Amino acid sequence: MSTTKYISISSQKGGVGKTTINILAASAFHFLAKQKVAVIDCDYPQHSLKNLRDKELELLASSPEKAAEFMAMGQQAYPIESCQVKDALGIAKEMDGEFDLVFIDTPGTINIDGILELWKQLDYIFMPLESDRLSVEATITYARMLEHFVKGKPDSRLKECYAFWNKHIKSEKQDFYERTEEYFAEEKIPFLKSRLEHSVNYKKDAMRSTMFPLGKEFQRLGISGLIKEMADTIYGPAPAQSLEAVAAKGDN
Ligand SMILES: Nc1ncnc2c1ncn2[C@@H]1O[C@H](COP(=O)(O)OP(=O)(O)OP(=O)(O)O)[C@@H](O)[C@H]1O
Ligand SMILES: [Mg+2]
Repeated sequence: MSTTKYISISSQKGGVGKTTINILAASAFHFLAKQKVAVIDCDYPQHSLKNLRDKELELLASSPEKAAEFMAMGQQAYPIESCQVKDALGIAKEMDGEFDLVFIDTPGTINIDGILELWKQLDYIFMPLESDRLSVEATITYARMLEHFVKGKPDSRLKECYAFWNKHIKSEKQDFYERTEEYFAEEKIPFLKSRLEHSVNYKKDAMRSTMFPLGKEFQRLGISGLIKEMADTIYGPAPAQSLEAVAAKGDN
């Protein structure tokens, strides 16, 4: 039986951080936890994840310093395949057994040919949401739909869908966050404890590099906590697999 796990940071809401967090997670598991990672970018036609990789490759080709820095890591970058949603399942199945983790970046809409079949290929979905009523409502609708049409179906691998806060603002009154988490608990939609902070750092190219690991920002902003929680979810909290090393290495 294949041990490849298929993961998507996804939602039916645009702009909540799906692509950003798919990259953060893919890069953390690949560069820091040394897992064999691949990415499928089926956010057609924007393909922002694949475009980021192409820009980074151009930069490497034009900057001997950057190229030397990359070579010094002694590690290849992970593959990124771009396609339309309807073709993603075929690509995902070809990757089966070749990789430990496959991250799939999907569009911020659900009315697309092939999306239901693709969801059924996923082991875990992590749903970022913002402290905004529309974002919360969209996440509840998305989770209910996955529960109804995907989870538990005989041809589906989907084990669980977890919500988590992105763009968390610490200085904001926290009762909206608390009330939302209580409501999700009543609805039996699990919530991760980690919150990714809102930060202007996300405007920096280094925050969404597909070719280099995150540096000390990794420790901050809730990122290492989120990756650790994802690792525990995907692999179980066994010490050997819990990726404590990810957080430790992010200290550099
Ligand atoms: N924690 C954060 N703090 C501040 N800005 C963030 C954070 N997370 C993401 N962003 C920013 O939010 C914007 C949207 O992020 P991203 O493109 O990852 O979202 P998306 O859900 O993939 O959007 P789309 O639906 O268009 O595919 C980007 O400008 C990104 O830099
Ligand atoms: Mg996106």
